[in-house]
Amino acid sequence: MHPKVLLVTGGAGFIGSNFVLEAVRRGHKIVNLDALTYAGNIDNLASLAGNPAHEFVHGSILDGALVSNLLTRHRPDAVVHFAAESHVDRSILGPAAFIETNINGTFTLLEAALKHWRALPEAEQGNFRFLHVSTDEVYGSLTADEPAFHEETPYRPNSPYSASKAASDHLVRAYFHTYGLPVVTTNCSNNYGPYQFPEKLIPLMIHNAISGKPLPIYGDGQNVRDWLYVADHCDAILSVLQAGRLGGTYNVGGLNEQKNLDIVNTLCEILDELHPAGAPHNQLITYVKDRPGHDRRYAIDCSKLQRELGWAPKESFHTGIRKTVQWYLDNAKWVEKIVSGEYREWIKGNYSARN
Ligand code: NAD
Ligand code: TYD
Repeated sequence: MHPKVLLVTGGAGFIGSNFVLEAVRRGHKIVNLDALTYAGNIDNLASLAGNPAHEFVHGSILDGALVSNLLTRHRPDAVVHFAAESHVDRSILGPAAFIETNINGTFTLLEAALKHWRALPEAEQGNFRFLHVSTDEVYGSLTADEPAFHEETPYRPNSPYSASKAASDHLVRAYFHTYGLPVVTTNCSNNYGPYQFPEKLIPLMIHNAISGKPLPIYGDGQNVRDWLYVADHCDAILSVLQAGRLGGTYNVGGLNEQKNLDIVNTLCEILDELHPAGAPHNQLITYVKDRPGHDRRYAIDCSKLQRELGWAPKESFHTGIRKTVQWYLDNAKWVEKIVSGEYREWIKGNYSARN
C-alpha cells in the first residue's frame, strides 16, 4: 500500500496504539485523535516522540467541529475509527458512556466525514475510506456446537457494550447505503498483546498473578472466546483498508477458541516458568459471581477475509501468549502507572460485589 495519511481515532488505546506504531513503521502518516479516557495512554506512543509521521490531538470524536477541522487541515486518505468505550463489565455498571461515545461519537464522526467527503474533488472522493473497527460481540452468543459467526449472521447483541457497537455498525452501514460514503467495517474477536489495559481478562490475570492476588474466574470458567494477537488484527485492518470492498464487512479472527479457565491455566504455567513464585500460580484461581448476561461462546469464521484479501493470522497462540506475558513482565512500570487511582476504584467496584 502506498503511504497514506490516516486520521485514527482512539489511537492511544490498546489496539489503536498498536495500529499507530505499525502504520508509522510501514510509512504512513498518522493524525491521532484521542480523548485520553481512563483507557487511553499516551505512554504507549512514547517511541514516536518527535516523529513527524505522528501528530497527536487530544480531543473527542464527539466534537464535530474539531473533527471537521482535522479533516480539512490534513485531508486524510482514510479515517480509521477505533475510539470507543470497550469493556463489557463497565457497560453493565455504567451504560451511558457507551451510548454517548460508541453511538453518538460514531454518528458525529460519520457526519463530519460525509460533509468532508462530499466536498472533495472526484478523484479524491474515490480514494477516501471510512474504516469502522467493530467486534464479534454484535452477533451475540453461540452454543457449544453452533457454527462460527459469519458476515451474514444476524446481529443479536446482549450487553450494553455490544448493543452500542451494533448500533454504530448499523449507522456506518446506513451512511454507505443512503449517502454513498465509502465505508468498510471489521468485526474482530478478542485481542491480546502489549498495551492492553489490565481490566481485560489476560492482562488482569497476569497482573494479579504477579502480585499474588486472586485470579477471579466468572461463573464456571467454561465461557469460550476466540483470541487473536493484536498485531494480526492491525495487519487485517491495513489489508481491508487497502482492498476491502466498499460497504462490506469483514470478520477477523484467530481460529483459536479457548475456555477462560484454560487461558488462565496457560498464563499460570508460563508464569511458573518465567516468574516462579514458590507455589504454582494456579493456586490463586478463585471462582466469583458470574457476569450478568454473560455470553457463552464466540467463534469467528474469517474465511471471507482469507479468501478475498489473502489475510491469515501469523502469530500462533502458543508464541503470542508467551510474548505477551514476557511484555508485561518487562513493562512493570507501564502497569504500575495504571494500577493506581481510578483503576483501584474500578477493581473495588467490580469485584467486591462478586465475592
Ligand atoms: P481501549 O478501551 O483500549 O481504547 C479505546 C480508546 O478510545 C482509548 O484510547 C480512549 O481514550 C479512546 N476514546 C474513548 N472515547 C473517546 C472519544 N470520545 N473520543 C476520542 N477517543 C476516545 O479499546 P481497544 O480494546 O483498543 O478497542 C479499540 C476498538 O476495537 C473499539 O472500537 C473496540 O470496540 C474494538 N474491538 C476491540 C476488541 C478487543 O478485544 N479489545 C476486539 C474487537 C474489536
Ligand atoms: P474480557 O477480557 O472482559 O472480554 P469480553 O468480555 O469482551 O470477551 O473477558 C473475557 C472473558 O473472561 C469473558 O468471558 C469474561 C471473563 N472474565 C473473567 O472470568 N474474569 C475477569 O476478571 C474478567 C475481566 C473477565
